Amino acid sequence: MRTQVGIIGAGPAGLMLSHLLHLQGIESIIIENRTREEIEGTIRAGLLEQCTVDLMKTTGVGERMMREGHFHEGIELRFNGESHRINIQELTRGKKVTVYAQHEVIKDLVDARLKTGGEIIFNVDDVSLHDLDTSAPTIRFRKEKDGDFQEITCDYIAGCDGFHGPSRPSIPSTIRKEYQKIYPFGWLGILTEAPPSAPELIYGNHERGFALLSTRSPEIQRLYLQVDRNDNIDNWSDDRIWEELHTRLATHDDWKLIEGPIIQKNIVSMRSFVCDPMQHGKLFLAGDAAHIVPPTGAKGLNLAMADVQILACALGTFYTSNNTELLERYSETCLRRVWKAERFSWYMTSMLHRHYDHTPFEHQIQLAEMDYVTSSRSAATSLAENYAGLPIECPEDWLEKLGVLTLNS
Ligand code: FAD
Ligand code: DHB
Repeated sequence: MRTQVGIIGAGPAGLMLSHLLHLQGIESIIIENRTREEIEGTIRAGLLEQCTVDLMKTTGVGERMMREGHFHEGIELRFNGESHRINIQELTRGKKVTVYAQHEVIKDLVDARLKTGGEIIFNVDDVSLHDLDTSAPTIRFRKEKDGDFQEITCDYIAGCDGFHGPSRPSIPSTIRKEYQKIYPFGWLGILTEAPPSAPELIYGNHERGFALLSTRSPEIQRLYLQVDRNDNIDNWSDDRIWEELHTRLATHDDWKLIEGPIIQKNIVSMRSFVCDPMQHGKLFLAGDAAHIVPPTGAKGLNLAMADVQILACALGTFYTSNNTELLERYSETCLRRVWKAERFSWYMTSMLHRHYDHTPFEHQIQLAEMDYVTSSRSAATSLAENYAGLPIECPEDWLEKLGVLTLNS
C-alpha cells in the first residue's frame, strides 16, 4: 500500500489529522489496533476548549456537537465549604468551554472520514515503523492478530498512537529527551444516571481530597474523586463513592448533590510527561504520543487537536509549495504551547488536590492560592485564559482557509 501520510492511531489526534489532510486534498491511511466499537465506546475526556470547538465547526464535523453539547460560561472552585465562580466568558472576552464527550467527537470524526472515502484499518496488530530517515518511511503491521504482514509506504508518518504506542520509542533514545512527573494519586471516575446537580462544573478541594462534578447530558452526569494511585476499583462500592462525593462537595448552604445509579466506574493514574523533540526524520508525534497532562486542567484532548492543526497546516504548506519550513519547526512550535499547558495542568492539580506529604504550612499556602485566584481579577483572568485555551500558532488565515475548503469539499 502507498499513501502520502500514514497515520498510526484513530484517537482524536489521528482522526482529526486525517480529516484536515483530506480537506486539503492530501491522502492518508489510518491504522488502529482496536475495533471501531471499542474506540467509539471508551469513556474519557469531556471538555472542549473554544479552539477545538471552532475547528470542529469550521471543518464541518461540529453539527452534532452544536446540537448536543453544553456550553458553559464559567466554572466553580469550591473550598472551605464555599463556592467561588470564575466567569470564564467575561474574563476571556467571550470564550466558553463546551462539554461534549470524547467518544462522541470520535464518532463524528470516524463518520466524516468514512463518508468521504477515508481509509481506517481497525484491529491491526504488531505495528512497527521503519526507514524514518529516508524518503520512503514505512509502517509494518498485521491486519489482524496472526494475519499476514502488510506495509504502508508513505511520504510522512504521523504517530498519533497515544502514550503506549510504538511511535515515540521509534525516535532513537540518544536524541529523545523525556520529562516526567508521576503523581501519588489518581482519579476515580463515574457515570451516573441522574439529573445535573449544578449548572456548571465544580472543582472541589477538601481535606479528604479533590472531587469534580461534571456532566454529559440532562440524564447522565460525570463525577471524579481523587484516590490513591494504587487503589483498586473493587474497594469502592457505590455507597462509598456517594458518601465520599457528598463529603468532599458539601457546602455551608443548602446545595444538594443528586444521586443516581452508577453505570460505569474506573480509576486512572496521573502523570505529566513531555517528549522533546516531537519529530524525527519523516516521523511526527501528536497528542498523547508526545505528551501527557494530569486531567485537572482538561487539556489532553485539546492539546492533541492543537498539535494536528499545526501538523496539517505544515503538511499542507509542503504539498502546495514544497516548502518544508513549517514541518522543520513543528516540534518547536508545538512544544511552546505544550509546556504552557503542562504548567497549567500541574498548577490546577497542585492547587486542588490533597497532597499526602504536605505540612500544615504548605496546606495553608494552598488555601491562600485558592483564596487569591478567586478574589483577584488578575489571578482569575490568568486562570480563565489558560482554562479556555491559549492561542494556537498557525497562520492567521488558516481557519478561514479551512472554512473555504470545507464549503468546497
Ligand atoms: P488517544 O486518544 O490515546 O488515541 C490513540 C489511539 O492510538 C487509540 O485509539 C489507540 O488504540 C491507538 N493505538 C495505540 N497503540 C497502537 C498501535 N500499536 N497501533 C495502532 N493504533 C494504536 N482531555 C481533555 O482535553 N479534556 C478533558 O476533559 C479530559 N478529561 C480526561 C479525563 C480522563 C479520566 C482521562 C483518562 C483523560 C482525559 N483527557 C482529557 C485526556 C484525553 O482523553 C487524551 O489526552 C486524548 O485521548 C489524547 O488523544 P490522542 O489521539 O493523542 O490519543
Ligand atoms: C471532565 C474531565 C476533566 O479532566 C475536567 O477537568 C473537566 C471535565 C469531564 O470528563 O467531564
